[in-house]
Amino acid sequence: MQAVHVLLRGVLLSLSISLLVLAKDLQECEDLGQGSHLCREIESFEQLSRYVGENWLRVKVVNEHTGIEDEDQEKEFTSLSKLLHLDLSEADGFTLAERGVRDFKALQELNITHCQLEELQEQHFPNASKITNLDVSYNDIQLITGKVMNRLPDLEYGNFSNNLIAEIEPDAFRGLKKLRFLDFTTNEQENITLGENKNLRYLSISNNNVRDFQWCRMRGLPKLEELHLHSNWLENLDMGIFYALPKLRVFNVSNNNLYDIKRTLFMSPDERPPLELLDYSSNNVKVLDDSVFCRLGNLKTLNLWLNQINKIHPRAFLGLFSLQSLQLQGNKISSLPDELFANLTSLEQLDLSRNNIKKLGLRVFGGTILRQLTHLNLSNNYISDLHPLALSSLPFLKELRLGRNKLVSLDLRMFAPLRRLQLLTIGENRLEEIEPEILNTFERLTHLEINNNRLAFLPDLKASQNLQLLRYISLEGNPWQCLCLDEITAWLDSRRVSYARPSSAYFSGRKPLCVVTPMDKCQRKLEDVRAQGIVESYEKI
Ligand SMILES: *[C@@H]1O[C@H](CO)[C@@H](O)[C@H](O)[C@H]1NC(C)=O
Ligand SMILES: *[C@@H]1O[C@H](CO)[C@@H](O)[C@H](O)[C@H]1NC(C)=O
Ligand SMILES: *[C@@H]1O[C@H](CO)[C@@H](O)[C@H](O)[C@H]1NC(C)=O
Ligand SMILES: *[C@@H]1O[C@H](CO)[C@@H](O)[C@H](O)[C@H]1NC(C)=O
Ligand SMILES: *[C@@H]1O[C@H](CO)[C@@H](O)[C@H](O)[C@H]1NC(C)=O
Ligand SMILES: *[C@@H]1O[C@H](CO)[C@@H](O)[C@H](O)[C@H]1NC(C)=O
Ligand SMILES: *[C@@H]1O[C@H](CO)[C@@H](O)[C@H](O)[C@H]1NC(C)=O
Repeated sequence: MQAVHVLLRGVLLSLSISLLVLAKDLQECEDLGQGSHLCREIESFEQLSRYVGENWLRVKVVNEHTGIEDEDQEKEFTSLSKLLHLDLSEADGFTLAERGVRDFKALQELNITHCQLEELQEQHFPNASKITNLDVSYNDIQLITGKVMNRLPDLEYGNFSNNLIAEIEPDAFRGLKKLRFLDFTTNEQENITLGENKNLRYLSISNNNVRDFQWCRMRGLPKLEELHLHSNWLENLDMGIFYALPKLRVFNVSNNNLYDIKRTLFMSPDERPPLELLDYSSNNVKVLDDSVFCRLGNLKTLNLWLNQINKIHPRAFLGLFSLQSLQLQGNKISSLPDELFANLTSLEQLDLSRNNIKKLGLRVFGGTILRQLTHLNLSNNYISDLHPLALSSLPFLKELRLGRNKLVSLDLRMFAPLRRLQLLTIGENRLEEIEPEILNTFERLTHLEINNNRLAFLPDLKASQNLQLLRYISLEGNPWQCLCLDEITAWLDSRRVSYARPSSAYFSGRKPLCVVTPMDKCQRKLEDVRAQGIVESYEKI
């Protein structure tokens, strides 16, 4: 009798609750289909538990006026125990009271970014939680303990970025057998104390305060493939990285205080360690030594931009058979030794811009054709001496940038083999003339920049059978004879080639585009142009 009475009361109670829920439902939870729900202005899990129905799988809470504040209490909210995803990233703060997310027993993904959390405790998570993805980024957490992590044996992805973590208990992650990603970017760690994990593939401790790094402390990460340590205070790297991390493919130490690259760093038990990407950019490296990368036969990308490199050994890049991209821009390189890039047969892109290079010698690229090299950037240097055959191993170039240098003339021997060139920039040099034979080599050129040189004329374009594919040319800032410029623009207009650069002072009328001369036709003899002093008079304007 009493049992029936209790049952009845239960039915009445749940009836009245569901009426209440119905009334508030429209206002507070929205069905997004396929088990997903968006709930607004939720103040507690107790309140949430009243909305959550049988078939709910995913809930996102969006609060504008209130955070979630649970009171410490003993009652379990069983309706929460079937949810798989919980997203509180827009819940406007969240206090993990006594029970934390313990009632979410089936939870697989938990997003508690931007929740103003200061600590995670063991009792906040269900025993043997099913959580595989945990995003705790953008909180104020200071410490990671083994006790908490042991509650998450299924964790695969842990994002702890943008917290105040200064300490990780040694081996806190050892028991997490499925863990693959760990992100501690933007925290306060000085020392790496992560310890062991047999399965981890990705680790970032970028943008912390790490000064001193010893690989031996990472011996417990045998499967690690990506290690990101950029934006720390590293000055020196230990030797033999692949002994500790034999599977490392991506290594980013950009933006530290590293002052050298030691060959011993890459010592390896393997003949050819798996490293594919090395980002050493924005450091203080001055010298590249003999054979420094010679072990790295799998390396595809080598980023060395924004260092202080001023000395490169002729065999510095020896052994980089797989290298596709070499980025050396923004260093202090003034000369390139013979054979430096020889045999880099996989190279596709080479960036040497923004250095102090004055001369490019005959044998810098060696004698073997580099069939893959399509992009070469030499802009922003001081090149005045460009050997006419310096690029003869590079007949597959598609883009050649030589802008902002000190070139006085171009040599037909250099351009004749570059039949595949599509983009050529030689703006901001000191060219007085481009010979007709050179223009005739530009069969596939679509983009040409010759602005800001000392050109008073171009060869007769009407006679030229080439430049058929030209789509864009930059012309401004040259002392064009007005009659020559008229011919050029008439030709460009007829071919629908665009040439005005809207941002240029010349095209907006602030500077003259051309020089009026007493001659009655476009003068194409350099001696005559010189005799007229056209360049000088233009440069005085
Ligand atoms: C967590 O939520 C934030 C904000 O909505 C989002 O940017 C982030 O990608 C989410 N994390 C995961 C792992 O989905
Ligand atoms: C968690 O579960 C394990 C195994 O089921 C059990 O041995 C342990 O006592 C539980 N711990 C707590 C705090 O409930
Ligand atoms: C971790 O979260 C941050 C911030 O949302 C995000 O930028 C980063 O990509 C995430 N890390 C990983 C490994 O997904
Ligand atoms: C980091 O390690 C160094 C040297 O082992 C030690 O002097 C320093 O106190 C450690 N820092 C922290 C925050 O544990
Ligand atoms: C390496 O870190 C720098 C930050 O200094 C970042 O800009 C760059 O994209 C990272 N490189 C890779 C390959 O992840
Ligand atoms: C390039 O290869 C040739 C032929 O195998 C060899 O003689 C030369 O020493 C190599 N040069 C460099 C810098 O690797
Ligand atoms: C150099 O040129 C390449 C294309 O050839 C371009 O992708 C790259 O951004 C240039 N580098 C700089 C520093 O402008």
